[in-house]
Amino acid sequence: MEQLAIITGANTGIGFALAQRLLEESAESKICLNICLSCRNYDKAVRAKSLLLSKYNCSANQIFIETVDTSSIQSVLKFTKAIKEKFFKIDYFYLNAGIMPVSKVDFSLFFTFNLFYVIKILTTGCDILKQLDEDTQDGMKSVFQTNVFGHIIMIFELLEILCKSQSKVIFTGSSAAREDSFSIDDIEHRFGADPYGSSKFLLDVLVIELNRLFNSKGVYFYTCCPGLVMSQVTYNLMPYWVWNLILVPIIRLVRMFSSFYTLDPLNGAEALLYLSMIRKCDQRERPSVFGG
Ligand SMILES: NC(=O)c1ccc[n+]([C@@H]2O[C@H](COP(=O)([O-])OP(=O)(O)OC[C@H]3O[C@@H](n4cnc5c(N)ncnc54)[C@H](OP(=O)(O)O)[C@@H]3O)[C@@H](O)[C@H]2O)c1
Repeated sequence: MEQLAIITGANTGIGFALAQRLLEESAESKICLNICLSCRNYDKAVRAKSLLLSKYNCSANQIFIETVDTSSIQSVLKFTKAIKEKFFKIDYFYLNAGIMPVSKVDFSLFFTFNLFYVIKILTTGCDILKQLDEDTQDGMKSVFQTNVFGHIIMIFELLEILCKSQSKVIFTGSSAAREDSFSIDDIEHRFGADPYGSSKFLLDVLVIELNRLFNSKGVYFYTCCPGLVMSQVTYNLMPYWVWNLILVPIIRLVRMFSSFYTLDPLNGAEALLYLSMIRKCDQRERPSVFGG
């Protein structure tokens, strides 16, 4: 039987690693899995598709490309229209695309000589990251629209097909989700300094509500943190040399005591992959927020 996984932000980082892991896993389980790479940049998506075809024993018509910019309502509506026209079933819907625009990193906090505090800031990015959130063409805050709103429109536009397919909808959340960064009076985070933490916290909350609304219709929602992964997002925070010469060696040591520091995107995709495989009934016994 054929299955379909749609992944937003699939051209690089965790989304691309997830596509690889899904192809490996489905080949082992002898499932014919089709993957729809949903990316904002068509050329990058084509490159990702070629890499997958060169590395895995899958056919070109197993991997689809559908462009979408989650920070544009018009683009999301065009995307969902195309998905409805092309597919009648979605088994796994990975809502992974995300941004964390950072304008400045306060390195001085690394020299507090408090190991636990350094671990905390490496885990959550709290205090050290000065974030820069701009307005989108739709007039929304960019982090909110990219990470949350665009994906929520997708869910509601595709709800009929998600219900019909008894889909699993899996957000890439983050341990940087911070309740104290979120305000119900400012859901876009116009007035705060941690739009990323606010957006990921909002996803955690929305997943609980979406489960309450739609579990009875057979759709299950999850969010999970992939751990700290070296990807575009992390490399945008600090120069390569700071990561590769200083932080990654430290993180490799800390990693002996914590599974949070997944580092490699393929490791980061592990928890997301796990969620697509657990049986639906297991979910009722587990919290819908998984740690990486
Ligand atoms: N890396 C970590 O340590 C970490 C930890 C916790 C959670 N996460 C979450 O994991 C997810 C994937 O991040 P990553 O680490 O793999 O980072 P990444 O390498 O930067 O990948 C992000 C992906 O999202 C896409 N994207 C960004 N804005 C988009 C938009 N407006 N419309 C459509 N696609 C868009 C990017 O496309 P382009 O290539 O075109 O930019 C890219 O494909 C994100 O949601 C992030 O918040 C990451």
